Amino acid sequence: MFQKGPIGIFDSGYGGLTVMREVVQLLPEYDYLYLGDNARTPYGNRSFETVFTYTWQCVQYLFAQGCALVILACNTASAKALRTIQQRELPQRFPDRKVLGVIRPTTERAHTFTRKGVLGIMATQGTVQSGSYMIEISKFFPTLRVYQQACPMWVPLVENNEHLGPGADYFVQKYLQQLIQQAPDIDAILLACTHYPLLIPKIKQYIPSHVQLISQGPIVAASLRDYLQRHPEIANRCSQNGKREFLTTDSAEQFSQQASIFYGEALQAVQVHM
Ligand code: DGL
Repeated sequence: MFQKGPIGIFDSGYGGLTVMREVVQLLPEYDYLYLGDNARTPYGNRSFETVFTYTWQCVQYLFAQGCALVILACNTASAKALRTIQQRELPQRFPDRKVLGVIRPTTERAHTFTRKGVLGIMATQGTVQSGSYMIEISKFFPTLRVYQQACPMWVPLVENNEHLGPGADYFVQKYLQQLIQQAPDIDAILLACTHYPLLIPKIKQYIPSHVQLISQGPIVAASLRDYLQRHPEIANRCSQNGKREFLTTDSAEQFSQQASIFYGEALQAVQVHM
């Protein structure tokens, strides 16, 4: 007989907290264990192998804490590590656990984001290079026109709490211009990195008001609710005491200070070592 455990939520740093806050709001009854790999963030410019190695270590850590289900609340990890975890590692070593990402739930709904059928995607270098969004969207909605833009400076701005300061304007404007230049008729922009919702006030200053900004938190939360309804065998292994715990691979004090910007309320983290 298995023991019930929390739902694991993983990100390279703080970004996954923007997903977790929506998940917790929609499904408050479950227990959640967040792990931010702040000591090794950002993942965005790292190789496939490195992103896989770091992500898989963190997922196994969450398994060891009793999680039967882990959400990779990180696009870079979802793009570069999820497939190997699902296809190679889980069947061999953890056939009774599940790991889900954020790209599939987002791309399944891509047609609802844009009225004109022209979608812009802002993401890390790694997510853009993986081609994951382009491949998935072209499978589901082959007539959508999709344009991507890598934003390598956005995660460092957010992780360093400089995202609303005057220094952020240059890089926010630069990447938006590069995206819009590719297709001036874009009418929706998907923020395909879980850090980016924090930049929304700045982004809005540099795009026309008719352009919709899409964040993934509510999408991932709704998709998780559907998943748990369709998979009672997994839902039954997730404990329901309304508990939330937060782990970081770097300073717990710093995490606790910064995290409320992402999570929307104060929290206390604990440091762990991989
Ligand atoms: N938050 C992660 C994502 O959604 C990226 C952060 C990073 O570069 O580490 O892609």
